[in-house]
Amino acid sequence: MNNRVLSGMRPTGRLHLGHYHGVLKNWLTLQNERDSYFFVADWHAFTTHYSDKIDLETNVSEMVVDWLAAGINPNTSTIFVQSKVPEHAELHLLLSMTTPLSWLERVPSYKDQQEKLKGRDLGTYGFLGYPLLQSADILIYKAGLVPVGEDQVAHIELTREVARRFNYVYGREADFEEKAEAAIGKMGKKQAKSYRLLRKSYQETGDIEALSRAQALLKEQQNITLGDRERLLGYVEGVGKIILPEPESLLTKASKMPGLDGQKMSKSYGNTISLRNTAEEIETKVKRMPTDPARVKLTDAGDPKKCPVWQLHKVYSDKQTCDWVKDGCSNAKMGCIECKQPVVDAIKAELGPMQERITKYQADPDLIKQIIHEGSEKARIVAKETMNEVREAMGITY
Ligand code: TRP
Ligand code: SF4
Repeated sequence: MNNRVLSGMRPTGRLHLGHYHGVLKNWLTLQNERDSYFFVADWHAFTTHYSDKIDLETNVSEMVVDWLAAGINPNTSTIFVQSKVPEHAELHLLLSMTTPLSWLERVPSYKDQQEKLKGRDLGTYGFLGYPLLQSADILIYKAGLVPVGEDQVAHIELTREVARRFNYVYGREADFEEKAEAAIGKMGKKQAKSYRLLRKSYQETGDIEALSRAQALLKEQQNITLGDRERLLGYVEGVGKIILPEPESLLTKASKMPGLDGQKMSKSYGNTISLRNTAEEIETKVKRMPTDPARVKLTDAGDPKKCPVWQLHKVYSDKQTCDWVKDGCSNAKMGCIECKQPVVDAIKAELGPMQERITKYQADPDLIKQIIHEGSEKARIVAKETMNEVREAMGITY
């Protein structure tokens, strides 16, 4: 599997603690380990919100500011905006030629969202194509891994099928075998021999280990062209040229971040704390949180397990504080306001430094524009290269 990671977010609202704990912290780790691409999926916002007057310019720039403030580093990862790499649209169009309508209709989010968002017009071509645009986002960078939440796994599955079909249809050159054999000849003698052995072993016994060793071997080859590498990758598996490799999803563990009401933190439940909430807003929101309904008076004992505040202690408090909560609550030794204070303090301590960075970045819109511009140009180099291969495979090079 290759080392490239790609993920995106739609700029449809402000980032909250659920995004931070569920997604961004994961990206922070990935950016140090892999070749990471993170982008704002602004076109995707139109697929569900085409008639809303959302101020995309503000949303996009605020999203990037929040990423930066959370620690996403433009020097180690590539940060960009989808619409600034129009090649995504070209690939989306070309993939639409080989993608059966039924594949899109059976993606679970297609029906689910139509049920859930009854008031919205989701009967559009754009909405049906949502996951295919996502496939183009991924395949254009030949990403190996896509960190996503559970709701997106079906989209990555679709992406794999779309890639497989594309490779099948357009990776079959008339003289594929001769070209592949010629490419083997261009590797060193020893390497060529190992390649043949690994290929034989995979094809005859289905040895997965042999397949990944062959893939690793090809990755190291310096003296064969990109096209030859794709041929030889496909030749091992007994298919055509692999122009668009199939990605894998990296499941982001369900966000451990509970919302203010104990359900998962989500904009649609109205139970969020935004990364930009002020200290007073944080205080008010936590102070208004419901607690164990058994605790009407201070002298009524409670059970932390029935209280959403306890869920937050589990995210933010050390063992000592947690023990203090359990004892104070179940023995009616303290009030709920007192119990909430460490949570308020912890959230403030977490967001304080982040908000200072947000303020700093907000004050320099040119810097943000420049980061987006440079990241998008960098992404575009890769996207253009893939599009050249795609056009070549489809015979649109005239
Ligand atoms: N659909 C994703 C979401 O709603 C956003 C997205 C668009 C994306 N393109 C992507 C995520 C490509 C990963 C890879 O969360
Ligand atoms: Fe919840 Fe704490 Fe009140 Fe117990 S004391 S009900 S854990 S807020």
